[in-house]
Amino acid sequence: MRRGVTDGPPSGMDAHAYYMGVALAEGGRALGRVSPNPAVGAVLVREGRIVGRGRTQPPGGPHAEIVALRAAGDAARGATLYNTLEPCAHVGRTPPCAEALIAAGVAEVYAARIDPFPAVRGRGLARLREAGLVVHTGPCAEEARDQQAGFLTRLAAGRPHVTAKWAMTLDGRIATRTGHARWITGPAARHEVHRLRDQADAILIGVGTVIADDPLLTTRLPDEDAGDGGPHHPLRIVLDSAGRLPPDARVLSPDLPGRTLIACTPAAPAARRDDWRRRGAEVLVVGGEQAERPPQVDLRQLLAVLGARGLNTLLVEGGSAVLGAFSSAGLIDRVVAFVAPVLVGGRDAPGPLGDRGVATIAEAYRLRRVTIRQLDHDLLISGDVEGSARGQAC
Ligand SMILES: NC(=O)c1ccc[n+]([C@@H]2O[C@H](COP(=O)([O-])OP(=O)(O)OC[C@H]3O[C@@H](n4cnc5c(N)ncnc54)[C@H](OP(=O)(O)O)[C@@H]3O)[C@@H](O)[C@H]2O)c1
Ligand SMILES: [Zn+2]
Repeated sequence: MRRGVTDGPPSGMDAHAYYMGVALAEGGRALGRVSPNPAVGAVLVREGRIVGRGRTQPPGGPHAEIVALRAAGDAARGATLYNTLEPCAHVGRTPPCAEALIAAGVAEVYAARIDPFPAVRGRGLARLREAGLVVHTGPCAEEARDQQAGFLTRLAAGRPHVTAKWAMTLDGRIATRTGHARWITGPAARHEVHRLRDQADAILIGVGTVIADDPLLTTRLPDEDAGDGGPHHPLRIVLDSAGRLPPDARVLSPDLPGRTLIACTPAAPAARRDDWRRRGAEVLVVGGEQAERPPQVDLRQLLAVLGARGLNTLLVEGGSAVLGAFSSAGLIDRVVAFVAPVLVGGRDAPGPLGDRGVATIAEAYRLRRVTIRQLDHDLLISGDVEGSARGQAC
């Protein structure tokens, strides 16, 4: 967009909500690319015109506010900043944004949310107020919280935010009785799955799905539908406790874009692990869950390792056993379910959650803030799991 030229809010729309919406769109393009940082978007407006915009750059690069300030140049003087998070006031990998905003002569700041990061937590806004800027929190706090769910969950729980995703038939199966699952949904729904991958830091499946489907787990999206810099390939994680992964599995091909991590237990033979490493995969040995005979990969331990590495978001793509294990461990924060108008029947055809399940409806997980979209003939139903870690973060 040319500097100083933009459409303003449509008539009747609150201008602050409009500009924060533009900032949220900027932040959205950074998702999957900037962990451990939150994906933040910034817009500078002067006299009703957008004079600069920015989004968080990969670690070590500038924060969103700095990118917007650089784009605006002198036009930042007297401008209003819309930022999806409180500007930082501490020296991290980069100097504090609050000082840069003050130095550039920004007059007013709308921050969608306070940054719960211990080194910030209100200090950024306090510093701006002290320097004489007019400071507001909001609008769009909820939307910003959704966008920053990964960062918030990692701060609150020390693990990535977990989205469980599946595609199921109208009669509640994710595969037929023979394990056949391609394709339950249509192209529009599958395109949406690639958008979810594009925005995730990591994706995870069980070895059962590799054996059944041999998926690539890459992001196949045209550039215009992807975030910053074209399609992003999240870290691919396969749970394979004992080394059952077929040696010719496509996730092990060395020429795949992105990285693959095999999470196993000490039961996986050393020769298998060496072979995975030779093919370029990372091998993570996490103690087996004690209750399991033979032990399986300990999910909490795995998630703690991913959290410690600064991964904010994890997309769990199945299959039934893995999704069931995440569910019974209380480790699902959000559900994204595609429902196709297809009937397969079969008592042995798996449902999405292959755990023991609850005994009464009163014990069921309930989703809140549910949205329903139609994608061709399929439905996309998504919502947050009640009581998830993200909810406790703020
Ligand atoms: N429609 C969809 O959205 C969708 C998506 C994915 C898959 N699918 C279908 O689902 C079927 C595969 O499902 P599945 O249940 O057989 O396999 P799965 O869930 O992909 O993998 C299960 C295996 O993962 C390993 N694992 C390691 N740690 C685990 C842990 N903590 N908890 C649970 N499992 C752990 C276990 O094998 P070890 O004990 O050997 O480690 C387990 O048998 C296929 O038919 C596939 O087509 C459908
Ligand atoms: Zn900053």
